[in-house]
Amino acid sequence: MFEQKFPTQLHPLEIVKGPWTPEARQRALDQEVLAHYIEYFGRAMKFRNWSPWHNLPLEEISQCGPRLSPETVHLIEGFLGIEEYVGDYVLAGLEVFRHDRTRRNLQLQWGAEEAKHGVSWELVLKHSQVRTEPQLRAYLEKVRECRWNVKQHPGIDSPLGGSAYAMVQERATYFNYQEMRARIRSEYSLPPNPTSEEQQRGYEVGASEALRIVGLDEIAHHGLFLSIVQSYIKYFPSRTFATLSEVFQGFEMPALRFIPNARAYLRAVRRTAFYSADIHREKVHNPVLKALGLADQEAFEKAVQLARTLPADLGPDSVILSRTGEWVSGYSQTAVVP
Ligand SMILES: [Fe+2]
Ligand SMILES: [Fe+2]
Repeated sequence: MFEQKFPTQLHPLEIVKGPWTPEARQRALDQEVLAHYIEYFGRAMKFRNWSPWHNLPLEEISQCGPRLSPETVHLIEGFLGIEEYVGDYVLAGLEVFRHDRTRRNLQLQWGAEEAKHGVSWELVLKHSQVRTEPQLRAYLEKVRECRWNVKQHPGIDSPLGGSAYAMVQERATYFNYQEMRARIRSEYSLPPNPTSEEQQRGYEVGASEALRIVGLDEIAHHGLFLSIVQSYIKYFPSRTFATLSEVFQGFEMPALRFIPNARAYLRAVRRTAFYSADIHREKVHNPVLKALGLADQEAFEKAVQLARTLPADLGPDSVILSRTGEWVSGYSQTAVVP
């Protein structure tokens, strides 16, 4: 098939020739976000085009079903609940991005991928024979009784805040699904890594394959929102770090309080030590900081503090964030803010 290479990196000077006014920054940011979306969309079409009804080993999921522990079942049911609020998540984005064609389309594509995740967990529960069809129908009906909205999370009701939140949430979801994959492999009496047989045939055993394939979507989503936040840092450093600080501090997974099996889910999380504040810090928050180019929490706090005092007229190429949270001149590598 013919494949057009699309330039996804535009140099800021190709976009802006005049002074770096807020409008010029916004224009340059919009161009970069479009480039991130095109890259993400191309990869989604090429490498992550799958269907829960057609690409999951459902028969094998049935055969291995009796091996799943009750905790695993409660956790997967909780994942189903969280993913099933996809309509509310997409709607919130569509409201914010009514006048932003790129972000609107991005939201639609992202939502189409997320919609497959709820279906995957439904199929895993059903084919493992741990939930009946009437039970699943009742569960999904209960999901619809509550509504998720952005106001339930501090700082996320703007294009920047939503991206910052999604960057963390997608990473956390990826981590959860990797943990669940490991759990299922152990309950199936499989080694942590795919066996040579699995490698040869190209997919993992039963529900482990579902966790693998959905996990690939989640880490790709994390990468997309990370790139968007990095572009915000480049053009609006002060605002971005203020928002990151607010979003990180109040971070909570979406719709956790509304899922129909919230109690059983949280009990399973505690019993299996599946997630905690410490795990969040070590496996989600710190890797996110590293991905943003910062060494640790101390460096992040310094970056937040110093970003407030950055001169407003600095061009995006004239300042670089160091690993320790200082802003240094892109030309001379000396500190811009003392
Ligand atoms: Fe998802
Ligand atoms: Fe996702």
